[in-house]
Amino acid sequence: MDRIRYYFAPMEGITTWVYRSIHASVFGPLDKYFIPFVEPHEKRDFKTRELKEILPEHNEGIYAVPQILTNQAEGFIRLAHVLKEMGYEEVNLNLGCPSKTVVSKHKGAGFLALTEELDRFLDNIYSGTDMKISVKTRIGKDDPEVFGKLLDIYNQYPLEELIVHPRLQTDYYKHAPRPEAYREAREKSRHPLCYNGDLFTGSRIRAFCKAFPAEDRLMIGRGLLVNPGLVKGVCTKDRFREFHDRLLEGYLGRDLGEVNVLCKMKELWTYQIHLFSDAKPYEKKLRKVQKLSEYRQIVATLLRERDLCPPL
Ligand SMILES: Cc1cc2nc3c(=O)[nH]c(=O)nc-3n(C[C@H](O)[C@H](O)[C@H](O)COP(=O)(O)O)c2cc1C
Repeated sequence: MDRIRYYFAPMEGITTWVYRSIHASVFGPLDKYFIPFVEPHEKRDFKTRELKEILPEHNEGIYAVPQILTNQAEGFIRLAHVLKEMGYEEVNLNLGCPSKTVVSKHKGAGFLALTEELDRFLDNIYSGTDMKISVKTRIGKDDPEVFGKLLDIYNQYPLEELIVHPRLQTDYYKHAPRPEAYREAREKSRHPLCYNGDLFTGSRIRAFCKAFPAEDRLMIGRGLLVNPGLVKGVCTKDRFREFHDRLLEGYLGRDLGEVNVLCKMKELWTYQIHLFSDAKPYEKKLRKVQKLSEYRQIVATLLRERDLCPPL
């Protein structure tokens, strides 16, 4: 699996610039880190929170790809130009977000139902900018039959790469990914392809690579949140402790306020807890904790008293 290029999936609110840079430093940089989506705004380029994610000095030493969520070509092109001036070579278009608020505005995976508008949008953005544009897509909104048509549309444009999360918008994350749809992409797409979806463990990655031996790039999200050393760097207890402590200090140093920092760390623990054997009692304590001092104690005890699960 050495020939495979690994990408860290964008995860809004979790794979922040602090997280990305510490992940790269402790486990070694993955081939690409996708920055959670930004949207074009009327009166300014970025919200403060978005700018922090995008600033080149916050993404030093990694290949970072900003992601844009919109269905307005003009806004996309404007934002892509700003990003180019900041030094980015590549941007990614979000055609996968399943959230109701996004989809009801025909953005993210909601745009996949409007194939004519999407075609026009792609025509405009590919002729309106000279940046590399990759696409991260689901296979449709509610009808898997549409995917063939979407692939025909993508084939008309010079996509840098096509990242496929083979679920419908209406699947959210519940329905299992649909390998037959990914196979269709493999057969039909003329673009470099990247698979994304439910690669939670080494054995799942190996099984996927056996089923799809031609793959040379994989995007992973939640699997890396559970085990940040899943594909590079090997997660020992010491390395996990270093990663965790640097992340906590990184957030505390950003003036977010103790409550917000705790919130961020607690959200991360909903994933990380699965790295530890027999950790149910700690899961509950970490969910309920309200004070930083108690939080530190719980984590210290967990790390002292529990082992990492053997790698799967
Ligand atoms: C909390 C959370 C936030 C996410 N935010 C984004 C996002 O900003 N942009 C995006 O394209 N996908 C986003 N996703 C989807 C992931 O990038 C990825 O496609 C999904 O988790 C499936 O991959 P996985 O099974 O390896 O986690 C998010 C997923 C989660 C769980």
